[in-house]
Formats: sequence, structure tokens, C-alpha cells
Amino acid sequence: MTKNKNNQPIWSSRIKKNSNNLFRKVGGSLDIDKRLFNEDISASIVHTEMLFKQKIINFKIKNKIVWGLNRIKNEIIKKKFPFDRNLEDIHMNIEKRLFDLIGEDAGFIHTARSRNDQVITDFKIWLKKSTFEITKTLDALTSTILKVADKNIKTVMPGFTHLKNAQPISFAHYMMAYVEMFKRDKKRFKNNLDALNENPLGVAALSGTSFNIDRNFTTKKLNFSKPTDNSIDTVSDRDFVLDFLYACSACSIHISRIAEEFIIWNSDAYNLINLNDKIVTGSSIMPQKKNPDPLEYLRGKTGSSFGNLFSMLTILKGLPLSYFKDLQDDKELVFKSYDQLKISLTLLNDIFKNFSVNKKEMLSLANKGYLTATDLADYMVRELNYPFRKSYLQTAKIINFAERNGKSLSDLTINEINKVEPKLKSDVLKIFDLNYSINSKTSHGGTSFGNIKKMIRRYKKNNEK
Ligand code: ARG
Repeated sequence: MTKNKNNQPIWSSRIKKNSNNLFRKVGGSLDIDKRLFNEDISASIVHTEMLFKQKIINFKIKNKIVWGLNRIKNEIIKKKFPFDRNLEDIHMNIEKRLFDLIGEDAGFIHTARSRNDQVITDFKIWLKKSTFEITKTLDALTSTILKVADKNIKTVMPGFTHLKNAQPISFAHYMMAYVEMFKRDKKRFKNNLDALNENPLGVAALSGTSFNIDRNFTTKKLNFSKPTDNSIDTVSDRDFVLDFLYACSACSIHISRIAEEFIIWNSDAYNLINLNDKIVTGSSIMPQKKNPDPLEYLRGKTGSSFGNLFSMLTILKGLPLSYFKDLQDDKELVFKSYDQLKISLTLLNDIFKNFSVNKKEMLSLANKGYLTATDLADYMVRELNYPFRKSYLQTAKIINFAERNGKSLSDLTINEINKVEPKLKSDVLKIFDLNYSINSKTSHGGTSFGNIKKMIRRYKKNNEK
């Protein structure tokens, strides 16, 4: 390739007419993939070193190319690089600039590679780094949640099913449920590393290359764990993109569910938590309002994450092997999901640092709705040797009695209880104590204070690692 006059694309000697103006404008990806410049240059340097090691290019040319690439990197960092949208993408921009800087010898850099393997190599390197960034952000969030949990081991609240009061739990136990969700997210991102660690570089356009390249060398130098095994699949495969986008979506679901929960708890109807002024916004007409907009933002943004995943699924559906232009959109979708997820996780972390718990309200809500009913049924199984179904029935009758008389379970006297179930002794009354109930749930994963304390300690230790 010679240096083109007027910045013509390198295929201008074959394709005589300029491509359609509109397509030239929309078909490029430079604005999106310039973000990969660092990865592109690193991979190109390693590719060049490999070409030299394999005696495909000589020492002088290798040095010139490496010098040029390092200089280009500096130019981009210092914002002095002459980006040109006519050159389609970051790869062509860098290659063209290399010609400007070192002349004809720049042409050796594209020996035994294609943009098809080049772009996935860059992308995989970027995704590995970003996977690490996300897991770090998840760790920071987890550490905040653990702090909130630690302060709330003895905070009693109702656990809900169907949003109806169900059984008493510790608020810390609730917060620890979020830790589990984010722990799974971390794992989901990490699981994708196996695929991300397969090195695509060297499969060239789709069939491999006749040059005696060393893919193990580039694999090692670029911190991959093995070269990919099938050149055709390599340039066509975007499963690692799907997995990343799915991991982002699953994590967004968790964020959204938590946001929704906090919105409900912060409502005047529930009033279980208070968001401080840092994380609310006002109304333009109602002076009294403090709205949980940041939480609503988090819930809303989940939609765009799903959208990106569905776009990628749809792009891949029906796409034959191997490379097609359709695939170019993968980067925009991933960058959007990644950026949004990082913002959302960081914002959620800030929200967790800026709310307080209305312990009194939580307790008072936990006193409504006969939350210790299951405990009473369990008690009869243990003490009266009833089958659970019989105890369940007797308990329901006791609750009906309490309801008819406008009482809670703990208001009942032993005489009243004995009207329904004569065998019960006054020892049963302790069952209606919420703390007693919580503390009795000692089964693995249960809400007892001791369990939670242990869990928090263990997770704190793990999270520090
Ligand atoms: N910008 C392109 C992309 O992101 C690079 C690969 C181009 N390959 C090709 N055969 N046109 O997909």
C-alpha cells in the first residue's frame, strides 16, 4: 500500500468510486471504537514482535513500526492525533498514521492479520479489563451493604411475601440478601473470562494464514491463556459479548429490584426508611416534596441494558459464518451497557451510604399481620406432638379469634388461647415475641441474629480478599 493522496481508503485502487456519501457517514465506527486505541496498539506491537521473532519481518522494520505505534499512542493520549472519519475505524486510522510517520514499511504490520481478528483481539482485551472494573465496583458496593447490615443486626422488620407481612426478620438479613445477588453477578462476569481468555489474534480474515506465525507467543504476551481453535468460528463468535451483556442485564435487574423496594419503603405509606437530602430531588410545584428520583433513575435505566442485550441477540440471529458488517455494532452496545452499569452501581453505593432506617416504624409494622403465626404452629408440632397440618389449623382458629376481638397475637391471654386449643400452656406466650421468633431461625441461611453476625463476619473477610 502506498500513502494515499486525499486520504482515500486503502481499497481505492480496487474500488474506483467513492462509497455512497451517506454510508460513508454512517458505516464507520471511529467515534465508538477509538476507545480501543490502547488495546489496538498493544496488540499491534505484540503482533509486530511476533512477526520479527518468526523472521517474517526484519529487525529494522520491527523497530520502526514499534516506534511509530508508541508515538501514535502518545499522540492520541495528548489529543494530538489527526482522527479521520473517512478512514472508517480506529484500526485504519492508526495504520494510516503509521504510514505518515514511517513510510512504506508501515505496510508490513498487516502481514498475517486482518481487521477481523484484530478487532476481536482488542475487544477481548478491553472486556477483560472492564470485567475487572465491574467486579471491583461490585466489591465496593458489597462492602457498603455489609456496613449497613452490621449496624442493623437487631433491627426487626417484617419479611414480606406478596408484599404482605409474612414473618419477622432482621433488617441485616434483608441487606445480606442483596450481597448474595451481587455475589452472583460477580461470578457471572468472571465466568465469561474463560472465553475472553482465548486469543483470536492470528486467525486473520477467516481461514488462518500461510505465514509461520506463533500464536502461542502473542497469547502469552497479551495475557490470554490459549489461542482459539477454529479460525472461522473465531471471527464470527460474539458469545462472549452476549455473556457480558447478559451479566450486565442480570446485575441491572438486581439494582432495579432494590431500587423499587427502596422506593416503596421510602413512600409515605410505608415510611420504613428515610433517604437523606443528597439522594432526593424536589418538585417544581409541590414545595414539600422529596422524591426518590435517583432510585427511579436506576430502575428506569435497566431497560436500556436489556435493550442492548436484545439488540446483540437479534444481530446474531440468522447471521451465517463468518464476519459481517452487522457485527460492528457489538462495541457500541457493550460500551453503553458497561458505562451505564458502572454509573448505576456507583450511584446505588451512594444511596446505601445516605439513607437511615426508621427502626420504630419497622417494628410497628412487624407487629401487624400476625407475623408469629408460623412460630405458633411450629410450637404445637414440637410441644403437643401435632402433625403440622393440625397445628396450622389450630393456629388459624386462634388468629381468627384474635382478629374478631381486634387483638394481636401477643395481646391474647392464655385463657383466650385455651378456648381454641386447651392443651397449650402459658409457656406458649413467649412465642409471640418477635425477637424470640427471629432468634429461633437458626437453620443454615436463616434470619437468627447469630447466623447473621457470622455471615457478616465471613463476608467481610471474603470481600477484603
Ligand atoms: N470496524 C470493524 C468492526 O468493528 C472492523 C472489522 C472490519 N472488518 C471487515 N471485514 N470490514 O467490525
